[in-house]
Amino acid sequence: MLILGIESSCDETACAIVKDGREVLSNVVYTQIPLHRPYGGVVPEVASRAHVEKISGVVGEAMKGGEVVDAVAVTYGPGLSSSLLVGLNAAKGLAMALGVPLIGVNHIEAHLHTPFLFDTGVAPTTDLAPETAMPALGLAVSGGHTTWVDMSAYGQYRIIGQTLDDAAGEAFDKAAKLLGLGYPGGPVIDRWAKGFWNGATDYADAAALKALAYPPGIKVREPMPRFPKGHPRAGTAALAGLDADLCVSFSGLKTALLYHVRKNPPKDDREKAQIAAAYQEAIVGTLADRTRMALCRRAYKALIVGGGVSLNGRLRAKLAEVAASMNVPLLLAPPKYCGDNAAMIAGLAYFKQTLTGDDALNVDVNPALQAGD
Ligand code: KG4
Ligand code: ZN
Repeated sequence: MLILGIESSCDETACAIVKDGREVLSNVVYTQIPLHRPYGGVVPEVASRAHVEKISGVVGEAMKGGEVVDAVAVTYGPGLSSSLLVGLNAAKGLAMALGVPLIGVNHIEAHLHTPFLFDTGVAPTTDLAPETAMPALGLAVSGGHTTWVDMSAYGQYRIIGQTLDDAAGEAFDKAAKLLGLGYPGGPVIDRWAKGFWNGATDYADAAALKALAYPPGIKVREPMPRFPKGHPRAGTAALAGLDADLCVSFSGLKTALLYHVRKNPPKDDREKAQIAAAYQEAIVGTLADRTRMALCRRAYKALIVGGGVSLNGRLRAKLAEVAASMNVPLLLAPPKYCGDNAAMIAGLAYFKQTLTGDDALNVDVNPALQAGD
């Protein structure tokens, strides 16, 4: 079965065709990062305008192979409402024009399908089939979300932990802005931290920093700036009934960074990189701790991680340690499917058809949709 997916929830306009929920036949992503860079964050009006301009071209490009698709899938939430509207309406029109069903897909749940995607002719990153990996613990970490999901089966998701304020990606982006490192912050902080742990002296050469690997078993040989790990207080209303041990708060981390930099302005790039490295350790350590805690709650068959922040080299290494110590396989997406894309939308639609028929054709965007809704 061939499903065409459309994604436009934030700052990527994307379309893909996926066979039987896993094999990606075409995958087109137009990223708006350069448009938002001058503002240091996504500007909703700029985003929706760019989606309108690009969507037809992106869909046309993905359909260039002339495949006959059996259904159209689309993200209807969560995300920016004006961005979601563009993709949803394009998908409704396309489904009607092609005379095929429309399937509404939840963006966060789709991130948790990404480890199962593979390109034609390329081996999947995991031998596990999606159905046999359940029950799984899912961790969706991106610019908009930091959510731990108990996945009993496709379609049976329950949020067991989440951030009470900023998402991990947001925490990276805001820190990079404060340190003057650029946008988006995650990849730059990842590079500078890697440079620091490797004893780099030149931080101007981004490609050279990117090519480095994190040394195994990072050893701290000097006092590092200390940043909080964001344990929410049990009983806080924002927990909304969730276990405080599985939730996190990143807003204090950002404030701690602000005060640290005011009090100890970095004298050179190395000091800046040291701050970036310590800050990253706080985020990565927090995510790893909560994940370990969540893995203790149930006999999970896999740990599934998706979202832009899962590209982070330190996070990948830390989660691998946690998974190995708990004897659970860690399933990470191929790097090109970590960030927002439409292959994950088309892929999940094959396994989980929540919203179909007239329900899908009549659905409106849902900017605050949660995993499991
Ligand atoms: O999944 P994504 O493309 O979009 C959302 O759904 O939000 O995630 C984007 C986020 C940004 O905050 C970006 O800084 C972060 O992912 N990111 C990273 C890395 N690469 C992207 N964060 C940490 N380390 C990275 N290497
Ligand atoms: Zn996303």
